[in-house]
Amino acid sequence: MKKPWAGRFAEKTAKIVEAFTASVHFDKRLWRHDIEGSIAHAKMLGKQNIIPQKDANLIIKGLNEIKKEIESGKFKFSDELEDVHMNIEHALIKKIGPAGGRLHTARSRNDQVALDLRLYLRDELKEIISLIDNFREVLAALAEKYIDIIMPGYTHLQRAQPVLLSHHLLAYYEMLKRDEERFRNCLKITNVMPLGSAAMSGTTLPIDRKYTAKLLGFSEVSCNSMDAVADRDFVLEFLSASSVLMVHLSRLAEEFILWCSSEFGFIELPDAYSTGSSIMPQKKNPDVMELTRGKSGRVFGHLVSMLTIQKWLPLTYNRDMQEDKEPVFDTVDTVKACLSVIVSMMPKVKFNKTRMAKATEEGLLTATDLAEYLVKKGVPFRDAHEITGRAVRYCIENNKALTGLTLNEFKQFSNATDKDVFRCLKVNESINRKTSFGGTATKEVLRAIKQIKNEK
Ligand code: ARG
Repeated sequence: MKKPWAGRFAEKTAKIVEAFTASVHFDKRLWRHDIEGSIAHAKMLGKQNIIPQKDANLIIKGLNEIKKEIESGKFKFSDELEDVHMNIEHALIKKIGPAGGRLHTARSRNDQVALDLRLYLRDELKEIISLIDNFREVLAALAEKYIDIIMPGYTHLQRAQPVLLSHHLLAYYEMLKRDEERFRNCLKITNVMPLGSAAMSGTTLPIDRKYTAKLLGFSEVSCNSMDAVADRDFVLEFLSASSVLMVHLSRLAEEFILWCSSEFGFIELPDAYSTGSSIMPQKKNPDVMELTRGKSGRVFGHLVSMLTIQKWLPLTYNRDMQEDKEPVFDTVDTVKACLSVIVSMMPKVKFNKTRMAKATEEGLLTATDLAEYLVKKGVPFRDAHEITGRAVRYCIENNKALTGLTLNEFKQFSNATDKDVFRCLKVNESINRKTSFGGTATKEVLRAIKQIKNEK
C-alpha cells in the first residue's frame, strides 16, 4: 500500500519500522470520532469553497459508508497505514477516488489526532461524571437508610470516637463530589477545538474554524496553533482527576476488605459480588474490592507515564505523543469498570448493626467526651485530658468500662465530676452532642442528607 507521505522517500519503509511505529491496533478505537471530525472538516471546506461542494458531498457520503463498514466489522485496519487516520483516509480515496484526496486540505494529522482525542475524551468524561453522580446518590440513599447504625470512627486504625455509619459514608460522598468537580473542570479544558492549527502554524487557506467548532459542539476554539498540537494537558488533567478518584475508591475498597473480615465483621458482601477459593471451601473473598484497590496502581502509573512523556518535548508535535492513547484508554476502562461495579454492589452490602455497636462499646471511645465534660465544668482542657487519661489507665488496669466506674471512683480523679457524668459517657449521647457543623450528631447528618437532596 502506498503511503500518503511516500513522495519524498526513495526507499520503502522497513517492515520492522512499520510494526514499531504503527498505532492502529490501539488508536482504531478513535474511528467514530475521527469520522465525525472529518465530516465536519469536509463541510467547512465545502462551505468556504476551498474544495468543490460536490466533492465535499462525496467525501461525507463516503465517510458515512466507511462508518457503516466499521460498525458491521467489515472494515480491515492495516498496520501498513500506521494509524486510524490514514486507514480511514486511504479507504475513502479507494472508495470515491480523487475527491477523497481533498479531505486532508488545511489539516495535518497533528491537529486531527488532537481533535479526535478531545472528541473521544469529551464523551467518556460525560459518562464518568454520570457514574460518579450515581455513586453519590447511592451513598446518600444508604446514609439515609442506615441513619441509626453506630460504629467506631478510627484514627491510626485504632478505635477513636463513636460515629454514625451514615457520617462515614457521607465522607466518601464529599470526596466524590470533589472528584466530580475535577472531571467537570477537565471536560471544560477538553472542550476546545484544535482543528485548523494544521501541522503547527495554521494554514494559508481561508478556513472557518468557528464553523467547524460549532458543527462539532465545541464551546471554544484553541487560540494558539502551536499550543493546540503540542500540549496534552487535558490528558494530564484527566489522568490526575482519575488518579485522585482511584485513591478514594481504593480507600473505600480497603475499608470494605477490612470490614468484611471475621476480625471486624462489620459488613457482609453479597455472594454475587464475592469469589471463592479453589482449595478452601469455606472462603468468600472480597476480590471486587481488592481489584479496585489494585487497579488504582495502574491508573497512577498512567499519570506518571504521561507526565514523563510530555516533560521534555520541545514544541510542537513529537511522535512520543502517540504514547498518550493507551494510558488514556486503559484509564477510561479502569475508572468506568471500578465505578460501575462498586455502584451496583453498594446497595446490596449488609451492615452488621450489632457488631458495629459492640465495637463501639468496647475501647473507651467516649474518653474525649469525658474530657470535654470536665471542660464544661471549668477545667482547662490540658488538665481535663490528663485527668481523663488517668481514668482511662485505671479502667484498663481494672478491666472496666468508663461507664462502669462509680461516682466515687470518678471523684478520685476529679472533684469536678458529678452524677451527670454518666450521661456524657453513653455512646448515643456522645454522637448526638457532636452538633458542630459537619459533626456526626444524627441531627447534623440528617441536615447534610437534606442539603444533598436539595442540591439535586
Ligand atoms: N498516530 C499519531 C499520533 O497518535 C498521529 C499523528 C502523527 N503525526 C505525525 N506527524 N507523524 O500521535
